[in-house]
Amino acid sequence: MPMMSGKMMSSLLAAMLMVVVPRFNGVNAADKPHILFIVADDLGWNDVVWRDPTMHTPTLSRMARQGILLNSYYVQPLCSPSRSAFMSGYFPFHTGLQHGVIMPEQKAYLPANLTTLPQSLKDLGYATHAVGKWHLGFCNWKYTPTFRGFDSFLGYYNAAEDYYTHMAGRGYDFRQDTAVDKDDAGKYSAYTFAERAQVLIGQHNTSQPLFLYLAFQSVHGPLEVPAVYENVFCGHIQNETRRTKCGMVAILDEAIANITGHLEDTGLIDNMLIVFTTDNGGPVWDAGNNWPLRGAKATMWEGGTRGTAFVYSKNLFQNKGTVHKGMMHAVDWFPTMMTAAGGSPPPGIDGVSQWESLTTGSPSPRSEFVYNMDAIEDGQKPAFHAAIRSGDWKLMQGPAGMGPAGIPYNGWYPVPGVDGEQEEFDESAVEDPGPDDYQLFNIKEDPTEHHDVKDKYPDVLAKMKARLAEWRQTMVPANFPENDPAANPEHYGGTWTPGWC
Ligand SMILES: *[C@@H]1O[C@H](CO)[C@@H](O)[C@H](O)[C@H]1NC(C)=O
Ligand SMILES: *[C@@H]1O[C@H](CO)[C@@H](O)[C@H](O)[C@H]1NC(C)=O
Ligand SMILES: *[C@@H]1O[C@H](CO)[C@@H](O)[C@H](O)[C@H]1NC(C)=O
Ligand SMILES: *[C@@H]1O[C@H](CO)[C@@H](O)[C@H](O)[C@H]1NC(C)=O
Repeated sequence: MPMMSGKMMSSLLAAMLMVVVPRFNGVNAADKPHILFIVADDLGWNDVVWRDPTMHTPTLSRMARQGILLNSYYVQPLCSPSRSAFMSGYFPFHTGLQHGVIMPEQKAYLPANLTTLPQSLKDLGYATHAVGKWHLGFCNWKYTPTFRGFDSFLGYYNAAEDYYTHMAGRGYDFRQDTAVDKDDAGKYSAYTFAERAQVLIGQHNTSQPLFLYLAFQSVHGPLEVPAVYENVFCGHIQNETRRTKCGMVAILDEAIANITGHLEDTGLIDNMLIVFTTDNGGPVWDAGNNWPLRGAKATMWEGGTRGTAFVYSKNLFQNKGTVHKGMMHAVDWFPTMMTAAGGSPPPGIDGVSQWESLTTGSPSPRSEFVYNMDAIEDGQKPAFHAAIRSGDWKLMQGPAGMGPAGIPYNGWYPVPGVDGEQEEFDESAVEDPGPDDYQLFNIKEDPTEHHDVKDKYPDVLAKMKARLAEWRQTMVPANFPENDPAANPEHYGGTWTPGWC
């Protein structure tokens, strides 16, 4: 570990002390529900069997059916921004993370002055563990999981690494707490993370509530999975890349089956809230699918932002087995979990607690959210783009976003080879809107965004523009710096390592 400043040392000490002497805020810790927060990576709207019957997700289906399926729940178009929302309760355009994902060589991070969800749960007496993907910055130790409220961490800092070798571009990326972990090299990450979760569950002293943040690598690219999952569960799928994606979803499902089985065996599940969410829509260029929704990962279309998610609990809900239609956003998990734990979130965050609405089926406390908002200049052109939702209305200003290779992904993308989904899309047939172009949709009547109705509803358009302008006043500049050569893993024995900011 590099040298630490005195300040860092004392905050580390403070963090260690908190482990030993948790503050319980007067509520009996044993009454607090354990919380398992599962994040799937890049899982599309149509990548689960209850929407695309060719997929294989028996465990997720059962939990969604017996729990509460979220039907109007939104995430950010991309990974780091969504995770920043989960961990901080702020919209990314309020924390500088609105432009893109954090690239390995960028000095970018979830700002250190924000209180994180695990920090707040720790204050309530929780043991807190992170397993899997971080992607919220690592240029300094202070941005990494065990300095942001987690007692332990097993996983990786970046994205899109190889599932087996854990190479992310030119650096190795796998750690146990702060130490480089080479023991798990060569093993497909879904196995490693499932085993780690089971160890943590098995070791957990139930006199303390448990918070386990389980951010799977699955089902992000690269398209890799042990062949057996593809062959046994997905052999009926003709398209090769979709078949591999199906296998990746199947192993994710099995990992969760193993973990929930262990939760049953240990009894932890009897007093537990389980949240399952994706971080963004499916990348259609990597065999992810969001049909019939429009767009893909990286766009503000519904296909990039309307998230696959459910909550599950044996004993905490009055309305088990329902579909929840209330509006909810990724920023809401922090306050919702704090309410479940008998605490309150830090003041000033964007999230609102959905606990009562979720557990009783009462109307959502949220009627508005911002899909995203970003003003980074693109060459000479100011590239402001944003989208806002108010009730059933959605206003989009400028382009919806951009996938790899500069492709905008404005279309509707059927599952390859599935009959009845024939709306092939010609990308060049739609001109990408400029920064001053607006589109207005009624998401309730037109969830697939086929009909821009701005000419029909000039009053709604004017009102929505005014609301967006108000939110724009609160936007902070995005922190999206040039790559820094100091990040090069060559300086750190070939592993992506903090210490260069
Ligand atoms: C964090 O720091 C930024 C930049 O100084 C400031 O604008 C923001 O209000 C701070 N946020 C909190 C929650 O302290
Ligand atoms: C669990 O924690 C309690 C309170 O700290 C302690 O009394 C008990 O011995 C622990 N149980 C085990 C099995 O370690
Ligand atoms: C689930 O558990 C079974 C039985 O122990 C094991 O064979 C399998 O590899 C596990 N799957 C995952 C994804 O961890
Ligand atoms: C499989 O589907 C992808 C789209 O996800 C498409 O690009 C590819 O051409 C298809 N492959 C075959 C062999 O049809």
